[in-house]
Order: sequence, then C-alpha cells, then structure tokens
Amino acid sequence: MNKVVWITGASTGIGFEIAKVFAKSGCVIIATARRKSRLVSLVSEIRFAGHEAYAFVCDVRSERSIASTKKKILEKCGTIDILINNASITTFKSFIDTKPPEFDDIIETNLRGSYLTARTVLPIMMKKKRGQIINVLSVAAKTVFTDSSAYSASKAGLLALFNVLREEMRKYNIKITNIMPGATDTPMWSPATRQKYHSRMMTPRDVAEIVFHTANQPKKVVIEDVMIKPIKGDL
Ligand SMILES: NC(=O)c1ccc[n+]([C@@H]2O[C@H](COP(=O)([O-])OP(=O)(O)OC[C@H]3O[C@@H](n4cnc5c(N)ncnc54)[C@H](OP(=O)(O)O)[C@@H]3O)[C@@H](O)[C@H]2O)c1
Repeated sequence: MNKVVWITGASTGIGFEIAKVFAKSGCVIIATARRKSRLVSLVSEIRFAGHEAYAFVCDVRSERSIASTKKKILEKCGTIDILINNASITTFKSFIDTKPPEFDDIIETNLRGSYLTARTVLPIMMKKKRGQIINVLSVAAKTVFTDSSAYSASKAGLLALFNVLREEMRKYNIKITNIMPGATDTPMWSPATRQKYHSRMMTPRDVAEIVFHTANQPKKVVIEDVMIKPIKGDL
C-alpha cells in the first residue's frame, strides 16, 4: 500500500503499533500526539527500517493545532489518503464521581477531536473523490461497562457521528470504518489491571493488524463496523 496515513494518538499503545504496521507496507506515516519525544522515537524506528515517517505535535482538542498539522502534512506529502482517529483518554470512575472538567476533557478529546480531524481532511478527500477514515472506537460504544460512562458516551457518540458521515460521503467514494476493540494491553489501563489481565488482553499489535486489514478493502466495498474481542471475552 502506498498511501499517506495520518494517525492521531500515535505516541503509545495501539496508535504506535498502527504506525509501524502501515509503515511496513510502504505507507508514508504521519504520527501525531501531544508527547513529542515518543513520536520522535517512533519515527526514528520507522526510518531506521527504511520507511518514510514524520512526527508532528498535535492536540486534537485544538482547532488551531489540527489546522497547523494539516498544513505541515500537505507541505511534506501533498495529500492525506487515510485518517486514523485513534487519540483518546478515559477515567475509570462512576458517573457520580466524574467531575464536569473530566467529562468535558473526555468528550472534547474523543468525540470533538475526531470530528475536528475528520472535518479537516474531508475537503482533500472530497476533491479527489477518494479516501478513508478509520475510527478506533471501543466495544464500550455498544456494550455497558460500569465506571466508564463518559468514555462510553464519547464512543457511542462517535459511532452515531461517523455512521451519518458514511452515508453523506458515499457519493464521494470516501470510506468510513469504525473499529471497536475490546480489552487491549496498553497504558490506557492501570499497571495493576495490566498485570492482572495481561495474558487475557489483546496486544496493541493485534489491533493494529486488524486496522491494517480493514484499510485494504476491495474497490467497491466499505467495511462499516468491526468488533474485535479477546478470545476469552470481555474482562
Ligand atoms: N486499550 C484498550 O483496552 C482499548 C479498548 C478499546 C478501544 N481502545 C481505543 O484505542 C485507542 C488507543 O488507545 P490505547 O489503548 O492505545 O491507549 P493509550 O496508549 O493511552 O493511547 C492514547 C493515545 O492518545 C493520545 N492522546 C490523548 N489525548 C490526546 C490529545 N488531546 N491530542 C492528541 N493525542 C492525544 C495519547 O498521546 P499523548 O498523551 O502523547 O497526546 C496516546 O498516544 C483509543 O481510541 C482507545 O479508546 C483501547
């Protein structure tokens, strides 16, 4: 695959692995997140393996940061073929313990962030009548997990948002795919939870491989929703 792929939240976990898997296939990687040092080491690793990659600091809560990232990508690569909306945060708290600033931060990062990045790349894709947006959601978009109300609301909101966008974008040949992974061994979980469930969780590489497979769709096909879970089920 020879595409320019923008991955948000690429500094750790699933996004970090998605960048490496797409790079291996020959894609040009644009890795963004807030922590520059981690992005720099990712990009060094990809370049060392002989592939092309760029790191830009981009906070998905900021329209200005997203606009300047788009400008930098277009300067370096001239286009964006695939956007992978992966950046996300959570807290593991009950509804009543989730304070308004935490709620706002989760919605702003997860839901509004992906809305903003998609809105930024769509004019490029609409002009070309081609493109792909892959959203890393969660099983929490469809399944009830306690102590995750704000996170679940953000992911269910994304599912609704991008299901509508998919219909609006069919005439432009732009494909929208929602990936809903279950428990994956990444820094999103506490060290204690990771230690307890390590052998049961999927690896970020597992999820990255599935994301890569869904990016390879036959021309006239759109993979709409993909739910992936550990073989032993939810935690
Ligand atoms: N781990 C799981 O069990 C699981 C299950 C289902 C779905 N998911 C989803 O998988 C995706 C990746 O999560 P992960 O598990 O790999 O967790 P992670 O390691 O914590 O990665 C989250 C990424 O989001 C970035 N991020 C957070 N806030 C950001 C902001 N304001 N602007 C830009 N980037 C931001 C972080 O980078 P910086 O801090 O450097 O900005 C980091 O790279 C998320 O969408 C998550 O909801 C994970």
